[in-house]
Formats: sequence, structure tokens, C-alpha cells
Amino acid sequence: MAFSTVADPYGARLTAYDLTSDTATAPTDTMFDIMKAASRGDDVFNMDHDIHQLEAYMAKLLGQEAALFCVSGCMTNQLGLRCLLTQPPHSVLCDARSHVFLYECGGIAYHSQANVAPVQPANGIHLTVDDVKAGVVTDDLCGALTRVISLENTLNGTVMPLEAMQQISAFAREQGYKMHLDGARLWNASQATGVAMHEYGRLFDTVSVCLSKGVGAPIGSILAGSQATITRARHIRKLMGGGWRQAGCLAAAAKHCIDTVVPTMPETHRLAADLAAHLQSLGMRLLVPCHTNMVFFDTAPTGITIEDLAQPLAQKNIIISSTPGTTTRVVLHYQITPQAIEDFKTIATQVVQTKGKPVNTIVDPATPPMMADLKSTYPSANKTTTVQ
Ligand SMILES: Cc1ncc(COP(=O)(O)O)c(C=O)c1O
Repeated sequence: MAFSTVADPYGARLTAYDLTSDTATAPTDTMFDIMKAASRGDDVFNMDHDIHQLEAYMAKLLGQEAALFCVSGCMTNQLGLRCLLTQPPHSVLCDARSHVFLYECGGIAYHSQANVAPVQPANGIHLTVDDVKAGVVTDDLCGALTRVISLENTLNGTVMPLEAMQQISAFAREQGYKMHLDGARLWNASQATGVAMHEYGRLFDTVSVCLSKGVGAPIGSILAGSQATITRARHIRKLMGGGWRQAGCLAAAAKHCIDTVVPTMPETHRLAADLAAHLQSLGMRLLVPCHTNMVFFDTAPTGITIEDLAQPLAQKNIIISSTPGTTTRVVLHYQITPQAIEDFKTIATQVVQTKGKPVNTIVDPATPPMMADLKSTYPSANKTTTVQ
């Protein structure tokens, strides 16, 4: 049995503070107690009580008729898109940095035989209705016509304003495009802005939200939509091999996390903002604004590398993605304590003082560079595979 080696107020048996992702939360002893008491029906036959409860709760929360509990965010995104797309030639318009385009193994081509029309937001932060109008494919002779507009909120930790989403949704409805939301971290957006989840959710035909990221559940994502869409999604989920049997224990753990972890997000966001401000005060540059729980930064102006920082942090049991070069991201979640962030700040200061160079110009925090390429900051970017 593993014992905690760091202060661990939630009883998660942590051996380190893992800042590589908000998926890096450890299930707590309380979650296992809740799992033991959960219902044990078969979800392939739609017969589990705790799953029914979670799905009904999530449908209402997101302003939709029905919901489906699934294994992962990739599955709920791909299912949602698959349900909205009919047959080729067709395409999905999305932000060029979006997860459905870059990090789902080309799933849109595989599952839906659809092209992707990636769009760069002109303002560098989020798509606007003007970006979307300029990006839709309307050439019905040589193009793959746009059928679905897929948005992501938060995206790289930045919040997409409700107004921008409302304008895109109104345009989509007027033109007959379907709308999908990758709301893996919609919880963070909602907690950061005070906008209710259903205010976002009702703008879309399908909404995917994750339970195993900042929410802290061990497994699970939700797809919400109309009753007809969710009935179809349940059928396609089985086709994809995602029909699961006695998964009520996972639904019960996820509901516990929604009730107890989501309210802690504002504090997590505060810690992230505090860390971001400190790194900037040392002369590092933020690659995107820190709106919620993610800090993307570049150490280049200080003369240190990410490796210079990662090693002493690891000695204090603080783990970051040790990407080559000078850029990375750190991602906070509820199991990262205020003391861990204080230690991070102290170590960063010491490393810059001992290994870095004096920084004369402090970068204006209000002006992050536009459209920084963040692909190298993702943990999977370090994996090199030889193609044979
Ligand atoms: C924005 C976003 N959407 C979807 C996913 C996919 O979630 P999963 O890892 O559960 O498949 C992720 C995963 O990190 C994500 O960051």
C-alpha cells in the first residue's frame, strides 16, 4: 500500500504534487467508500440507478433533454460529432488549437469520415462569429461543406466569452449548422465567470463535459443533447466498444466530485493566477493569459530552461512536464495545496537567481504573444515514435 509523502488534506495518498495535468488527481479513500455503496446494475441495458441519477442531473445542469455517461472525453466528443454528422462530403469547423482536431488521433476522419476546417482566431484568444463566417465551407462543388461548428471552452485554460458563443450559435441556427461543445473544462469556465452551465449548454446540439479532469473523478465524461441524439449516441457507443456494464460505482464517485470539488475551483484559479503573476515577476512570459487553472509560460527571457526548473521542483515532490527547451504548461487542480504553490514560487526564484540572467524588461502581463504554438508544451509532445 502506498503512503502519502506530501501533505494531502483530501486523503488521496499522494506521493507528489502532479502539475502535469488536471487529469492527474488521485481518487480519495472517500471515493472508494462511495463506490462500495453504489448501485450495481448493467448500463449496457440502461439499468443502473446511480448512472440514471447522474445522467438526469447532468442533462438538467447543461440545459439539455438527456445525457449519456461514457468512459472518456474523446469518446463523448467523437460520439457527439458522429451523431451530428450525416454523410460525406462534410466538415467540422473548429479552432485550430482544439482538442477534437489535434489530440483525438484523427478521430473525426476515422469515426465520421469528415474533414476538419481549422480556424485561427484573429484575436489570438478565442473564435468570434467573424472568424466562423470567414471559415465556413460553402463551396458545394469542390468543398466539404461545413455541417458542424465545434467550440471548446475553456481552451488552453482560457475562457471563451458567453457573448461570442451566443453570436456563433445564432449564426449557426440561422444557417442550419449544428453546434458541438467540447466543454471538458466548462466547469472551470462557469466557476470563473459565474455563468451557469446551462447558459452555455443550451447554445449547442451536443455538449461534452469531463468528470476526470479538474472535477477529480477517476473516470468519466458526459455527452448531453436531445433525447433522440442521446438514444443514437448510446447505440453508437456500443458500436465503438464503449458499452460498459456495472459502472454505477464510477457514476457515484463522479457525482461526489461534482458536489465537493467543483466549488473548490475558484481557489484553484486563484492559486494559478498567483503562480502566473510570480513567474512573470521573475521575467518569464505567459504564452496565453491565465484565466483559470493553466499557466503556459516561457522561461527564455530569464536564461533558464524548463529542465533547470523541473529538477529542483521534483526534489520537493512537485512534478511538471519537463519539456525540452523553455516552454511548458503547468495545470492546477484541487489536490495542489497553497503550500505547494508557495514552494514552486520559492524554487523558481532561486533557480532564476542562481542559474539565470538578470531580466531588465518585465513583460507586460496584458500583452501575451498572439497565437503562440503550444503543441510542444503538451506532455505527449515528448513521446517520440519511430515510424516503421
Ligand atoms: C479539451 C479536452 N477535450 C477532450 C479531452 C479528452 O478527454 P479524455 O482524456 O478523457 O479522452 C481532453 C483531454 O485532456 C481535453 O483537454
